[in-house]
Amino acid sequence: MTISIRAERPGDAAAIRAVTADAFAGVPYSDGSESGIIDALRAAGDLSLSLVAETDGTVAGHVAFSPVVIEGGEDGWFGLGPVSVRPDLQRLGIGSRLIGTGIAELRLRAARGVVLVGDPAYYARFGFERDIRLVYPRPGGEFLQRLVLAGSGTGGVVRYARAFG
Ligand SMILES: CC(C)(COP(=O)(O)OP(=O)(O)OC[C@H]1O[C@@H](n2cnc3c(N)ncnc32)[C@H](O)[C@@H]1OP(=O)(O)O)[C@@H](O)C(=O)NCCC(=O)NCCS
Repeated sequence: MTISIRAERPGDAAAIRAVTADAFAGVPYSDGSESGIIDALRAAGDLSLSLVAETDGTVAGHVAFSPVVIEGGEDGWFGLGPVSVRPDLQRLGIGSRLIGTGIAELRLRAARGVVLVGDPAYYARFGFERDIRLVYPRPGGEFLQRLVLAGSGTGGVVRYARAFG
């Protein structure tokens, strides 16, 4: 099986929606809002980076990055997520390639760092860690982690794009 990672193209939206809905369907902490968030990010011009994993001409996975504001902190930070891999293709490294490619692209764009809310057992492998200087005053805020791409990191209150509600 050959997997390629590429930027989202016009016409991908429906396949991204389907992969995202399928991936989160069995996830206990999901409220089913993830595919709608991606559509809302795109509509608002907040889909800073949208990568798909493609195999045999079909979309096998997707990751979204959007701008975040660190109130009282520095500019140039992005939020990672949602990230999804088709259930029958999980645990083959596709999620890691999507995330790794996205982070590499953000480095090229001189981003300062990336935050996400997710399971530390998965994201630690990419270098994400908890940083008590960053506060996310929302449900799940204790699972906020960050990856510093330039400088020594920052502190403040994290605010995601409006699509996240
Ligand atoms: C999370 C997800 C994108 C990972 O994609 P993937 O292609 O399966 O991941 P990879 O193959 O790169 O990595 C698999 C590894 O991650 C681990 N892993 C996958 N999901 C995990 C999770 N939620 N928590 C902890 N570890 C996880 C696997 O145990 C595996 O570890 P191993 O290599 O030590 O066995 C995918 O499992 C998915 O779509 N999950 C449902 C949606 C979701 O939960 N998204 C993330 C929300 S924060």
